[in-house]
Amino acid sequence: MTKLHIGIILGTTREGRFVDRPAGWINEHLSKHDAIHTEVIDLRDYPMPFFEETTSPAYARPGSDVACRWAAKIAEMDGFVFVTAEYNRSIPGVLKNALDYAYREFNKKPAAFVGYGGVGAARAIEQLRLISVELQLVPLRNAVHIAMDQYLAIANGEKQVGDFDFLNASAVSMIEDLVWWGQALAGARNPSRLAADCSGSRALNPITHQPG
Ligand SMILES: Cc1cc2nc3c(=O)[nH]c(=O)nc-3n(C[C@H](O)[C@H](O)[C@H](O)COP(=O)(O)O)c2cc1C
Repeated sequence: MTKLHIGIILGTTREGRFVDRPAGWINEHLSKHDAIHTEVIDLRDYPMPFFEETTSPAYARPGSDVACRWAAKIAEMDGFVFVTAEYNRSIPGVLKNALDYAYREFNKKPAAFVGYGGVGAARAIEQLRLISVELQLVPLRNAVHIAMDQYLAIANGEKQVGDFDFLNASAVSMIEDLVWWGQALAGARNPSRLAADCSGSRALNPITHQPG
């Protein structure tokens, strides 16, 4: 069977960010699985303006070149692991902005979550699950929550994420779900619904969602 192409989306971009540590750790876990190959998708590589398109990405590919490149990258994936902080009890604004810039490219693909912060970013992840429903992602139940004690020990350099057995166990459960749903949905998805490329006409028929 073809391997699932899983995008690890880094949800923060600020200098000195923590996100690289849990992202590197979950990438190691994912890469051990025979059914998966991974790609890190760093929002720093997609510096999109605040959403200012004339049309929802549900009906037309973004006019902004960087946003179109982002949507095209999302279209290549069979599923996602979002690695996110909690900013003021929600997801970071840069992540929400990126999510608003794609639509069909997310449809009918599984979404798994790794969060870190006061309550393991549980509040942010719950909001991300709701957003996922509107994007027609399939948000998964099992997630990884790196809570404050572990976050501080890792941030201070006293521990690595992988030193916590219960986090490794959470990762394994989450990845089992991701593979099950990823394979089920890859078999059911219509490949003709992939995003248009970033050249040529951007208008999509609002009924068929196809160009023209
Ligand atoms: C604007 C802002 C808001 C924050 N709000 C929360 C919060 O609501 N809950 C929480 O647990 N941590 C919160 N934090 C602390 C973050 O969990 C911590 O700074 C974390 O390292 C942010 O992720 P990053 O380093 O990848 O940017 C906040 C941090 C920032 C910068």
